[in-house]
Amino acid sequence: MSKSDPFWDKKAEGYSQSPISDEESYKRKLLETQKLFSSGMRILEFGCGTGTTAIEHSAHVQHIDALDISEKMLEIGRRKAIAANVDNINFSRGTLTEFNAGSESLDAVLGLNVIHLLPNRGETLREVARILKPGGIFVSSTGCLGNSYLRFLKLLAPIGKLLGLMPDIFIMSETQLIDELKNAGFAIETQWHHGMDDISVFVIARKPHH
Ligand SMILES: C[S@@+](CC[C@H](N)C(=O)[O-])C[C@H]1O[C@@H](n2cnc3c(N)ncnc32)[C@H](O)[C@@H]1O
Repeated sequence: MSKSDPFWDKKAEGYSQSPISDEESYKRKLLETQKLFSSGMRILEFGCGTGTTAIEHSAHVQHIDALDISEKMLEIGRRKAIAANVDNINFSRGTLTEFNAGSESLDAVLGLNVIHLLPNRGETLREVARILKPGGIFVSSTGCLGNSYLRFLKLLAPIGKLLGLMPDIFIMSETQLIDELKNAGFAIETQWHHGMDDISVFVIARKPHH
């Protein structure tokens, strides 16, 4: 398995202290997701960060595998789960493909604010489709800069990365993301956006029954 990611390790403590930027949209996402959960479900979140959302969802499902490439993020997540008396989240380091969950073993997969960071987006979306049970859901929230003036951030990315200020980002439009989800076999059930220039795209996509 790859080493803990130094960029996100450095960010972890600050990330865990920073307030949620759009509380209203965050709550709406939690509610729309939790409406689809039931107490026997086994779910997985990749790119879980410091576990805030996994902890929010923990009472609504049976078990959560929470993955991240940063050991520091996971350490904070484990600490927060203990403080919240939550014992059904297993935090482990790695990417979704490294985790290699069983085929059709999960009721839901979450990838929140992480898809634009994936160098292997197509492979990851196919992996989500493989590990979900038929009828299972993929919940994602993604910064889609493709049609926004913010796409020019990409020009700053090499300098930002060199200075340790930015991670690698992969720019796509909302339409491109939706097409890629459909190509991976998903049916889109919920889709809305919010935030600066509407770049944050929330999607609930379902793997069809056979
Ligand atoms: C912007 S943070 C989002 C954290 C959390 N999902 C949230 O919404 O607050 C991105 C997280 O994804 C993790 N990450 C980046 N690339 C990843 C990958 N390929 N696989 C798993 N986690 C990744 C980072 O370590 C970081 O914790």
